[in-house]
Amino acid sequence: MGSGGIAAAILGIAIYLIATSWTSDDVKTSVEYEDLPMYLKQWREMGQTTRINGNQMFYVYKKCSNKKVKNPPTFAIVHGFPSSSFDYHKVIDDLTKHGNVIANDHIGFGFSDIPIQNFTYSLSEAAENLLAVWRHVGIKNAHVISHDMGDSIITEILARRYRKMLPSDFDHFFQSVTFTNGGMRFDMINFRVSQYILMYPSVGMPLSLLGHKLGVTERFFKKQILSIWSPYAENMEERDRDIHDLYLLNAYKNKLLYGYKLCYYLWDRSRFEFRWFDALRHLDIPSRFIWSDSDTVSPVAIPKSFKDMVPNFKLTLVKNGGHFWMLENPKRWIEEAIEVLK
Ligand SMILES: *[C@@H]1O[C@H](CO)[C@@H](O)[C@H](O)[C@H]1NC(C)=O
Repeated sequence: MGSGGIAAAILGIAIYLIATSWTSDDVKTSVEYEDLPMYLKQWREMGQTTRINGNQMFYVYKKCSNKKVKNPPTFAIVHGFPSSSFDYHKVIDDLTKHGNVIANDHIGFGFSDIPIQNFTYSLSEAAENLLAVWRHVGIKNAHVISHDMGDSIITEILARRYRKMLPSDFDHFFQSVTFTNGGMRFDMINFRVSQYILMYPSVGMPLSLLGHKLGVTERFFKKQILSIWSPYAENMEERDRDIHDLYLLNAYKNKLLYGYKLCYYLWDRSRFEFRWFDALRHLDIPSRFIWSDSDTVSPVAIPKSFKDMVPNFKLTLVKNGGHFWMLENPKRWIEEAIEVLK
């Protein structure tokens, strides 16, 4: 441990002592199922859970709603941090007009379990669990669309595919892959304050506790999300409701208290990038980068940097969109998603 690590540990212990000696226990931090608005409950009822490697994983699987589509393709949606499959609630009905849709909540997110012990929240773990849920549902092949942390889960799977380490039932799985706004290049991420804090558990853990005791977690969380929203948003009411929904799903089962665990994937990103770039260099399936251009956390410089790396590189920019452009501009998201079928 360097001197920075020791300082972080001492600071962490100090904050922890302050936080645990606080006596006011009346701040309600956890959101329970009964507290959720109807439409969030409906999303939960629409999906199912299955036990994967010891934890319940939530997923939504909807069959193509248009009978005229023969042999409907499947879209596999892979959400990012700190969100869930619910990011796609505005687009799922339109997407099912064109094909089947599978969207899961990674372990630790949305309506999936959040194990506190004996779980690393590494991207390897997330990749294995994602493959397991696809296999459980019986998806044979899919057009994969990933976002944010989901991009890195997919590049980990693509690295295994490139090295021929995937189980053989995934030999013909990928019909195409679409990456959307994510920190696929560690050195180009514009980290949020919260990410810095949470990356260091010795500071992040006690600070999360302190935030809860002080009752400031909700405000802080929403400010962080607002900072990556499109500055061009027009409907403020809708924007605020979307951000509140993100907050509710993070407060559900008190997940916000464990943000320092859920942020572990950032370390994986810095460690395994070379492995993923190797897979991207040898990509032999149709791939696209579709990136909104006003995302402060994962800027357009990230996909542009892959121009000379990814074979048949294709980049589409979405004007004035922020990080969560599937929520900000669902119409455009659908147009781009189904473009792959043409
Ligand atoms: C975690 O692992 C330890 C050691 O194997 C075990 O004693 C403990 O019960 C496990 N905890 C949970 C929640 O599974």
